[in-house]
Amino acid sequence: LDYNLAYKVADMSLAEFGKKEMQLSEREMPGLMELISRYGKEKPLKGFKITGSLHMTIQTAMLIKTLYELGADIRWASCNIFSTQDHAAAAIAEQGYAKVFAWKGETLEEYWWCTEMALTWPDGSGPNLIVDDGGDATLLIHYGIQAENDPSFLDKKCGSKEEECIMERLKLAYKNDTKRWHKIVPAIRGVSEETTTGVHRLYQMEKEGKLLFPAINVNDAVTKSKFDNLYGCRESLADGIKRATDIMMAGKVVCVCGYGDVGKGCAQSMRGLGARVLVTEIDPICALQAAMEGYEVVTVEDALPLADIFVTATGNYHVITGEHMSNMKDEAIVCNIGHFDNEIDMAWLESKSNSKKMQIKPQVDKWTLPGGKSIIILAEGRLVNLGCATGHPSFVMSNSFTNQVVAQLELASKKLETKVYTLPKKLDEEVARLHLARLGVKLTTLRQDQADYIGVAVDGPYKPDHYRY
Ligand code: NAI
Repeated sequence: LDYNLAYKVADMSLAEFGKKEMQLSEREMPGLMELISRYGKEKPLKGFKITGSLHMTIQTAMLIKTLYELGADIRWASCNIFSTQDHAAAAIAEQGYAKVFAWKGETLEEYWWCTEMALTWPDGSGPNLIVDDGGDATLLIHYGIQAENDPSFLDKKCGSKEEECIMERLKLAYKNDTKRWHKIVPAIRGVSEETTTGVHRLYQMEKEGKLLFPAINVNDAVTKSKFDNLYGCRESLADGIKRATDIMMAGKVVCVCGYGDVGKGCAQSMRGLGARVLVTEIDPICALQAAMEGYEVVTVEDALPLADIFVTATGNYHVITGEHMSNMKDEAIVCNIGHFDNEIDMAWLESKSNSKKMQIKPQVDKWTLPGGKSIIILAEGRLVNLGCATGHPSFVMSNSFTNQVVAQLELASKKLETKVYTLPKKLDEEVARLHLARLGVKLTTLRQDQADYIGVAVDGPYKPDHYRY
């Protein structure tokens, strides 16, 4: 690998367009702009090397710009093979905000190459800080350490193409240097993780005693999961399905699998467009919530003869199975908005089912099953909103990414223990506060006597940690 490479992107001639769109997003990203004006002079991230593994979109370009303005030395890859916006990657490369390795439509081999490039500086050193989304950068390091501790790990039987590609990368790294990841880990002060699935992995590693460096769970900041996951998906799910298929939602039956934050946004989005929404859940609390919102709560099996569109939003595995796909209505649309593509059993479709694939356009495939019926799969079962559209709007990502930058500042300024942390509520409230003016919100100021009466400080935090919003 040539770690001196400054970038690998699809097309540098898109840089101008990318820069214009970045400029357009500034007004919609008041949190990030405020951080630049607050810390741009002081440069608190000066001397810190940051690796990012997060969808290389225009919004992420603004996150990168912010980290750059705060002084960081940055390398970046996308965290999904389809989510890069090539004009955003080109704009970052051209302006030199980061070394960037990302393009739309990477192969899995290329994806892990990009991740490794983002993790390695030309002198062979690694990052001090990581911005992760889904945990792939963190995973590569943890697997690397495991392999160096016990090289037989490299011969482990891989359950998927994805795992094969990770192992290939690790084998190459091991061949060149048997202590490579061990040299990189001591300099890592921590990772800030963007999404539910990545956070789940971190807590698992912490529980098993395998976590190698401190982690900040950005996802569970209220101003992240209760906004991005919910209101972001409320807009970007429909955007993805529509750009892919142009289908009219009104009157259709949509089955949303999972009624967590993402599922709630998806269900509301589809209902808002006039669809009849069915919800599936395994958690009685979420099932009851869905029912009381007026959705019919059923099983996937019940939904098979009814639904025109299936959306998975669980973060779980094989929620839509081969058997399910075989029994759907002809030309049912199937897509996933959870983090990984195994929510839909794509492996069954691709290699076990004897189905025929016809590409209608990139990220939209019609699969004809042996019985003659077809289904339409979007983004090959990967995140539909980022694969078939441009992900969430800037405004909601400003909330998420302001949390990310705050988390990076925390990791840079404190030496934390090797644990998973969440951000303090006061910072969460601050992130929200930064986004009020853009929407013309006029906040009521608490009087001292009122503050005393409810037992909080006039300037917050206003809620106890257990409050659920
Ligand atoms: P969550 O944990 O709030 O919700 C997931 C829900 O799925 C839970 O209520 C759970 O009970 C339910 N569930 C689990 N297994 C199920 C099954 N077999 N059938 C039906 N329901 C099942 O998680 P959240 O925040 O809603 O995230 C969901 C996924 O979306 C995660 O993978 C997350 O990383 C991803 N995500 C994607 C975004 C995007 O832009 N596409 C944005 C934010 C999160």
